[in-house]
Amino acid sequence: MATSNILPEALPSSTVLFLLALGYIYFLVWEFGETKKIPPNAKLVKVPCFSRWAVVPARSQYYADIVRAPDKYLSSVEAANEFWQAELTLHTDEIGDNIQIPVIVNTLNKSLGSLVPLVHDEAVLAFEEAFPLDREDEEGSQDGWKSFTISRPIMSIVGRVSNKILVGLPLCRNAEYINANIDFAVQVVVMSHILLAVPTFIRNFVNKLVSPIPKRVKQITAFTQPLIDERKEQEERLGEGYEKPFDFLSWLMDAARKYNKPDRDIILRMMAVNFASIHTTSLTFTNALLTLLAHPQYIEPIREECERCVREEGWTKSAIDKMVFLDSFMKESQRVDVVAAILSNRLAVSDFTLQISSDGDTDSSEGVFIPKGTMLAGNYLDAHFAKEAWSGEDPDTFNPYRFMKIQKETGRQWNIATTSPNFLTFGHGRHACPGRYLAAQEMKLMMAYSVIKYDMKLPGAEKTPQRPKNMWIGNHCVADPRVKVLLRRRPGSIVS
Ligand code: HEM
Ligand SMILES: *[C@@H]1O[C@H](CO)[C@@H](O)[C@H](O)[C@H]1NC(C)=O
Repeated sequence: MATSNILPEALPSSTVLFLLALGYIYFLVWEFGETKKIPPNAKLVKVPCFSRWAVVPARSQYYADIVRAPDKYLSSVEAANEFWQAELTLHTDEIGDNIQIPVIVNTLNKSLGSLVPLVHDEAVLAFEEAFPLDREDEEGSQDGWKSFTISRPIMSIVGRVSNKILVGLPLCRNAEYINANIDFAVQVVVMSHILLAVPTFIRNFVNKLVSPIPKRVKQITAFTQPLIDERKEQEERLGEGYEKPFDFLSWLMDAARKYNKPDRDIILRMMAVNFASIHTTSLTFTNALLTLLAHPQYIEPIREECERCVREEGWTKSAIDKMVFLDSFMKESQRVDVVAAILSNRLAVSDFTLQISSDGDTDSSEGVFIPKGTMLAGNYLDAHFAKEAWSGEDPDTFNPYRFMKIQKETGRQWNIATTSPNFLTFGHGRHACPGRYLAAQEMKLMMAYSVIKYDMKLPGAEKTPQRPKNMWIGNHCVADPRVKVLLRRRPGSIVS
């Protein structure tokens, strides 16, 4: 194949407003099947996004070739700077070296075994507070059933258990601090869209004028700085005798010391990790919960498995790892309940020829020319639903046994944290989500805890239970924040 000429030039942002309108029309058309019209030999396809074109693989397995390309050609940092306007929203102009990522990959990930019991202890209290069930005569309560809007309470639970690991007690229980981090993430998303919608040369100005983020940084600094000061002071005073708190902040402070970073830098990195953790984990958990309640026949098998594992191993990582049906169920929910159409972007920071090696086409040796400025990305809808990729089992059907079966048939590990060009919930390649092992433990634990502690159903479940539809907001797909679920405390459950 000759060098492809299907790629557009990188578009200047003066065309942004025009594209905004055009983009959405095209986007809708594309979403409703335009991808099927791709010529069979095209390796990459351009699709309209919020402020520019993105270029996605025509076949999902080519994404492996994209993520294999060196950072000096296809950069995930520069992609985030564009996609999230991260220099202005997430302060990557200060913390773009990402020294927090090795701390996640190494120290945090290796501590998962010790962290899971802490997550459990906090989850017990967080669920109790988020879904109060005690006063049965309260409005909305019938036979012990009580209706809850679940979206925000789940975010509070996730924010609290995540911060048990990030900053520990007592700050993880401070609702104002947790809410500040939840709201920060929303502000990043909103500000990034505002900034993308205005021409490049006035972005700094517009940012100064309207961004609520500097105030948010101040607010979160007021919570975090005293903690940092206190820890530094204690360490100085106690010397060898100082017992470091077992949390991410400690590990990050060690890294910051090594690289000579100021305290503001530590605080911004904590905010960035909260940004990466809370909404992603909450949404993914909420999706799995709603999908479970829409398939109530699986509640009992999952509950039985979880109770057995907890009885054998306690609330530990070993118990969570043994919950293989829950794992397969939640992974299938992640496959079907996609979080975005296009994500895990890479920006071409110089001209580059992409070698497509993943389809065994010997004739592709010349590669596909990618001009500097091209935004490449994963095509989540195609990856998760392509017929060729999920041969044998119809990808349009929800099958919670799918991944248990694949694992059994291939002998390859296919658990909730496994990525592939056809499973992009956590991205793929060396920049795939480093927090996914933690997120998987948290989400499985929360699900196990929910099925053991509660009877749960969707409103109107007496008839056929209908999965409340997720909402597409442009590229992103989220659970409807108004969705309600009925909960009742299970008598005699092994958690009280
Ligand atoms: C269910 C929850 C989560 C989902 C769905 C998720 C998803 C993702 C995705 C799609 C990426 C981009 C990967 C790529 O570009 O190839 C990513 C990156 C990242 N995630 Fe997560 N994530 C989750 C939880 C977490 C948690 C709990 C943490 C922190 C402890 C975290 C930290 C990060 C970081 C630091 C990156 C950037 C990695 C890099 O650029 O090398 N994530 N995540
Ligand atoms: C993180 O921990 C999990 C299990 O605890 C392990 O399977 C995985 O390989 C670890 N990941 C990294 C990047 O070290």
